[in-house]
Amino acid sequence: MSIIYYPDHQVFKLDTNQTTYAFRVDEYGYLEQLHFGGRISDGAEAAALGFRLFRSFCPYPDGGTPLLSRDHMAQEYSTHAVGDYRTAAAIVRTADGVNSTDLKYVSHRIYSGKKPLPGLPASFATPESPAETLEIVLIDAVSQVEFILSYSVFACCDVIARSVRVVNRSPRPVYLEKVMSCCLALPNRPLDLITLDGSYARERHVTRAALRQGTQSVGSRRTSSSHQHNPAFMLADRTATEESGEAWGVCLVYSGSFLCEVELDQFNRSRSCAGIHPEDFEWELPPGGEFQAPEALLAYSDGGLSKLSHHFHDVLRRNLCRRQWSGRKRPVLVNNWEATYFDFNAEKLLNIAAAAAELGIEMMVLDDGWFGKRDDDRSSLGDWFVNAAKIGELGELVGRINALGIKFGLWFEPEMISENSELFRLHPEWVLTAPGRVRSLGRHQLVLNMAEPAVVDYLFAAISRILASANIEYVKWDMNRQPAEMYSPSLPPERQKELGHRYVLGVYELHRRLLEAFPELLIEGCSGGGGRFDAGMLYYAPQIWTSDNTDAIERLKIQAGTSLFYPASSLGAHVSACPNHQTGRMTPLETRGNVALAGTFGYEMDLATLNEAEREIVRRQLDDFHRFHPIIANGDLYRLTDPFGNCDYTAWEFVSKDGSEALLFYVVAHHYAHEEPRLFRLRGLQPERRYRVVESGLVLYGDTLMNAGLPMPEVPGDGASWHFQLKLVDKA
Ligand code: GLA
Repeated sequence: MSIIYYPDHQVFKLDTNQTTYAFRVDEYGYLEQLHFGGRISDGAEAAALGFRLFRSFCPYPDGGTPLLSRDHMAQEYSTHAVGDYRTAAAIVRTADGVNSTDLKYVSHRIYSGKKPLPGLPASFATPESPAETLEIVLIDAVSQVEFILSYSVFACCDVIARSVRVVNRSPRPVYLEKVMSCCLALPNRPLDLITLDGSYARERHVTRAALRQGTQSVGSRRTSSSHQHNPAFMLADRTATEESGEAWGVCLVYSGSFLCEVELDQFNRSRSCAGIHPEDFEWELPPGGEFQAPEALLAYSDGGLSKLSHHFHDVLRRNLCRRQWSGRKRPVLVNNWEATYFDFNAEKLLNIAAAAAELGIEMMVLDDGWFGKRDDDRSSLGDWFVNAAKIGELGELVGRINALGIKFGLWFEPEMISENSELFRLHPEWVLTAPGRVRSLGRHQLVLNMAEPAVVDYLFAAISRILASANIEYVKWDMNRQPAEMYSPSLPPERQKELGHRYVLGVYELHRRLLEAFPELLIEGCSGGGGRFDAGMLYYAPQIWTSDNTDAIERLKIQAGTSLFYPASSLGAHVSACPNHQTGRMTPLETRGNVALAGTFGYEMDLATLNEAEREIVRRQLDDFHRFHPIIANGDLYRLTDPFGNCDYTAWEFVSKDGSEALLFYVVAHHYAHEEPRLFRLRGLQPERRYRVVESGLVLYGDTLMNAGLPMPEVPGDGASWHFQLKLVDKA
């Protein structure tokens, strides 16, 4: 049993294998957070962990004492405008204009398993990674709005999935101004906030900064999770490293505008909330109406950031990615984008496919430019019918590619529309624009109103027609700009702020319908590279194009940052041509391969132009991919260096869950003359067993490898890289 209720103390104790999350109903009916950290066995004792401070300057309810002030309580789901001036988890406005939220316990229930969240992606229980769920009903006496807090414990992943459902029990409508998915209080201690930030082609660089009094936040107002910030964050002891110290993480399962805010209060205690960004959000809830907020995944580690990452990797792989793809090998693909851009015909594509097939690549993906009259980025988005003048009949092309022994995949950008398109001429009203405003373009294109069911119906029919017309086993789902003018003619004026979330629900609905119709389809998410890399998309698309930046050296940072939360099996990573198209850098083909192996692995280049020596390297890389797949896709990742602190050289290691095998990667971006070779101390091995380094034959004990290290070779020059596979020698 993962969830225990102690009725005498009204304490809830949620146990994963290594962590405990505890809170209670206090003497006034509020939920008070008690502990989120290492395991504690007696939940009743946890009741003593609550603070009751005498702070006469903190407001308290009439008839009570300052001991009751909500302004210093560690609230489980924080109130609004009733004497707590800190970040509110929820703000409800009544039809009378009363704008405060005060939530008290009503009831709870515990059940085995986990229910899906209507319309939203969410983690799910499986027989191998089961869950137990606690639902707590809170009510606001004035607005008569119920908040149902839900906690599903994935004990073997050490993760708790939280979400919130709001039900209007009053006879009049209410207005939700803010509904965060979770709220987390941590005691007074020096913490760092760690977030993933960046830009186009520079996604998810790690920012780590000391938490200071006041509110610090990252978020997106782009109706998409964005290149600039990621909907996830960690709080870590200031001294925590990759391998030691305590750290907490929150990862939102949501792909739209979000806010992650952390407030360090006057007593140096932190309160963190994560959820839909409240700035462009308001939801009208009619009597009896329900609103489901997205899910947030929470985890704790007493072994530094690597261990925290492992918890997230485990839950995303086992309990979030669609089951038929979790842990399953994905086809090694070649994508024609950087090979041809818009300039291709059937012959060119077949040449690339033939070269790929000959090398052992398993799928050819046809990127942008196959539909409508699209030969550049100025037209045809929305016209999802084949440009036969350019590539001939699609079924025939796919047939010929399949005949080479490889699969076929196709690019779409469903949410977009070009002004120069048949769809626009037919349905200009489907475009997101605001009355009286000059509309914004991005990459010359406009955005469809995905909140409009007719738009989703059209896209479902148009995309299904293409998918049914040929043997298409993979879709790359792109989104190359974010909506700007958020206005929908079908929503009444007072409900316009629902549009952003409704857009995201429309995107999810289209994914759901397509996957229901084509259950074996593999979707790779994409958004101008990695502009929508989040756990919400991962539910539908088990892999996401990590960045348009395919430069192996730049990818070291992008992939290390992304790996804080997201597993290697979800990171789209390809070997591309040199000089690199984004940075102009030259990097050895071997190194491009070693870096792409830390993701889904594929190629993004004209393979027909490779010489025999290069083709031999590609064959070796494919062999590596197949040999290494189980450990990369399902093992534990250790970041042995921090590319944000020192990007001259980077090393990372995958270890199988039983510690019987490891794989070390080492890339030198900048080599200094007269340097000494390095030693890397490995992690996660069995100390008393011996390992053989496959590449060198060297045999060393696990404790030697972990405490002394594995010596690295002399570096021949910038851009060099290696991988070393280690296998247990002795039988147990
Ligand atoms: C985006 C994607 C690229 C490619 C182009 C096509 O930028 O990230 O991989 O698909 O669109 O227009």
